[in-house]
Amino acid sequence: MPILKIARMGHPVLLQTAAAVEDPTAPEIRRLVADMIETMEDAQGAGLAAPQVHVPLRLFVFRVNPDRATADADDTAVLPHGVVINPTVELLGEDVRLRWEGCLSIPGLRAAVPRSWRIRYSGVDTDNRPVGGEVTGFHAGVVQHEYDHLDGIMYPMRMRDFSLFGFNEELARAAQARQ
Ligand code: NI
Repeated sequence: MPILKIARMGHPVLLQTAAAVEDPTAPEIRRLVADMIETMEDAQGAGLAAPQVHVPLRLFVFRVNPDRATADADDTAVLPHGVVINPTVELLGEDVRLRWEGCLSIPGLRAAVPRSWRIRYSGVDTDNRPVGGEVTGFHAGVVQHEYDHLDGIMYPMRMRDFSLFGFNEELARAAQARQ
């Protein structure tokens, strides 16, 4: 299966509103999802939305690895391969926290972005089965990030404090120097 080319920030496909998927079970959608999962893993990303591979449709893939999930207090959900087609996301409660995010379309950089701690989301998979639920922490953050891509929103557009934005290597060096 091919590794797909990832659009980088500045490409107009990342700023458009994606269209609903008419038939989530269509062979071309299954193929797209399989290729997106492979592309995400190859790039060592936690999530990938269809507009990032130049397909302006409302679907994304993501994974919640055990090591990432346990870092967030009450987030026990572990999903090796999630796909969400035609998602809805509802932000629950007032608890908004900064979480460090990167994006495969903004390589080498990361930032602290305010995200709702708890959300409820829904959608379907490629068998048209319902997916989603009420989640917190890393799982909730990655879903909010990927969902934003479907509305043309990149994470810097959510930032409030641009001092918490930098290159991975510099941020790691700075963190080490503080220890
Ligand atoms: Ni992204």
